[in-house]
Parts: sequence; C-alpha cells; structure tokens
Amino acid sequence: MLQHPETRATNAMAVKTIITGMFDLDAPILLAPMGGVSGGRLAAAVSNAGGLGLLGGGYGDPVWLRRELDIVSEECSRPWGVGFITWCLSIELIDLVHEYRPAAVMLSFGNPKPWASRIKATGARLICQVQDLAGAREAVAAGADIIVAQGAEGGGHVGSRATLALLPAVVDLVSPIPVVGAGGIADARGIAAALMLGAEAALLGTRFYASEEALAPRRVKEVITNGSGDHTVRTQVFDVVRGYDWPSQYAGRALVNQFAQTWHGYEAELRASLHLERPRFRRASELHDLDVAMVWAGECVDLIRTVESAAILVRELGGETEMRLKEAAALCSRDPAEDAPRHAVA
Ligand SMILES: Cc1cc2nc3c(=O)[nH]c(=O)nc-3n(C[C@H](O)[C@H](O)[C@H](O)COP(=O)(O)O)c2cc1C
Repeated sequence: MLQHPETRATNAMAVKTIITGMFDLDAPILLAPMGGVSGGRLAAAVSNAGGLGLLGGGYGDPVWLRRELDIVSEECSRPWGVGFITWCLSIELIDLVHEYRPAAVMLSFGNPKPWASRIKATGARLICQVQDLAGAREAVAAGADIIVAQGAEGGGHVGSRATLALLPAVVDLVSPIPVVGAGGIADARGIAAALMLGAEAALLGTRFYASEEALAPRRVKEVITNGSGDHTVRTQVFDVVRGYDWPSQYAGRALVNQFAQTWHGYEAELRASLHLERPRFRRASELHDLDVAMVWAGECVDLIRTVESAAILVRELGGETEMRLKEAAALCSRDPAEDAPRHAVA
C-alpha cells in the first residue's frame, strides 16, 4: 500500500490528539462505517490495532446488524463504534445497538437532532458526519461530541464540497468540538495533511475497502487496487436503479463502469427503463458483474495498490503519519542553502 517501504515504521504511539485521547487510540485513524462493508471483523481489527473501528450499519438491516455486532463485541478488546445513515434510523435500531454498548455512534446524511439525546443517553459518543457548514451547524445544535467533515472526493455518498477547503472551515466553525477529516484520504500524507488543517483524526473508507477483512468479494478489492481517481464519478444512477430515495444534495462516488457511462446524466430515462434495468442490475450485483454493479470508491484510489490486513494498515499509516509530521516540522529548522543543487565548477 505504501510508496516508501524503506521508511516504514511500526511504532504508532506518538501522534496524540484530542480524539486519540478520547478513545485511547494508538493512531489518529477511524474506519468509515461503510454500509455492509465495515463488518464486525474489520471494525474489531481496526480497533484492536489502535484505530477506532466503526461498524457499517448502513440502511439498518437488523439481521445483518445483530450478526456483525456479535462479532465485533466478541473479537474486540478496545473501544469501537457503529454508524448509520441518519434518514434510515429508527428507535428500534438505536435500542438494538445499545445492547452492545458501543463507545461511539456515528450518524451521516441528515439532521441528527431527533436521535441525538437518545444516543447520548446510552453513554456512546455522538459522531456526526457533515458535508457542508449548514450540516456542521445542525451537528453542533444536536450536541455532537465529534464532527466529521466529509469532502466530495470521498467514496460512497458525499456532498459537493472539497475536503481541503471544507475541513478547516468546519474546524473554525465548531471549535472546540473536535473534528475529523474525511474524503480522499488513503495514506499518511493525507492523514498528516488533515491534522495540519486542524482535524484531530482522519476517517478512511476506500483504503479499508481494500483490506483483507472488508466484507467484499476479492474482485471488488482488485478493481480498487487497479482504479484511477480520474475514473470515479459522483452520481445518482445507482440509487435510482436500486430504488433508494436519497435526498438530492447527496450523490454516491463510484468507479466509472459501463452502467454509469450509459445512464449518468440520463436519470429520467433510467427511471423510465426501471422495469428492465432494475432486474438486470440486481442480477449483476448477485454475480459481481462490475460492468453493471457499482463499486463505491473515492478519488484516492490512485494511492491504493495492494490489499492489506487492517492491522497492518493502521500500524503503518499511524507510524508513517508520525514521520510525515516530524519531516514537516524539520522544514522549519532546515537551512535552504544545504539543499541547493551543487554545480560542478568547470
Ligand atoms: C464502500 C463505501 C460505503 C460507504 N457507506 C457509508 C455508509 O453506509 N454510511 C456512511 O456514513 N458513510 C459511508 N461511506 C462514506 C464514508 O463514511 C466516508 O465518508 C468516505 O469513505 C471517506 O472517503 P474515502 O472513501 O475517500 O476515504 C461509504 C464509503 C464507501 C467507500
């Protein structure tokens, strides 16, 4: 996964932030709660390695959720959490999750206010993922303990603002609430940059999608490791064909495939063809036909070239982040004259 094997580090203990302190983490890294992908094994592996694993509760299938909650609570010896899509949440789901005592519950996509007090009453920290400043204001009003600023470079559903400008603006707006950066972060350079922008940690989705423990077929992980950020698209076609009624400000970023090429920009025509396209799409999803079925992925796919275990990812990313920050600090004390190219005198 890493471009500089000679600089690999194993000790991720040194980067300390408000969020590493909150959950006793060894690295300022959160696993994105990718619906159906961040299962119990992946969440447990991330947390046991010193990050914060967030189970991907997604649209809230209670059977899937109970099975994966059993796994994470059994396999995990450190704090972990669970995430939901806010507009699909119900009291029953919160009560189900509460039985397992997660350290954090993350809500994304919608106003968290109706659910906030019930979640906080369980003792879990409330993490709210937002896509713009209006969302950040709603999260503050709901009493969020942590706010994730998610840029449009990210994989899966996102808003329309870019991480580089959104993240520091959210930091300024919500201070002193700690902020996490998300969207397009897949290596230590990205994590260090997020910390420089004022974040207390980074949340990574696509990078962990290509991990051994992610609940995804091998073929999907391979297309991510062969993917290019030039070939992702933020589109509604996969929601239209699946029949999910997503609020219009969100679209899902996926790798461009034949289905997206055919229908992106032609959503009305797709709606008119659902009697044919929906069964075709369902079949393709069952068969993992990736010309038709979607692979959610962020623009950071360029930085992901191997499938790794989650523990290796957390430890190496944590160690490298520390090195990147030390290298950045050294820039301030370096004498530029020492770096000047030396020309041979004829
Ligand atoms: C496969 C996949 C599924 C996702 N599912 C969810 C989800 O169910 N709920 C959610 O809040 N975010 C979801 N996301 C978005 C992540 O929370 C996160 O914001 C995003 O992955 C960050 O960008 P990155 O992929 O560039 O790291 C998903 C992302 C991916 C890649």
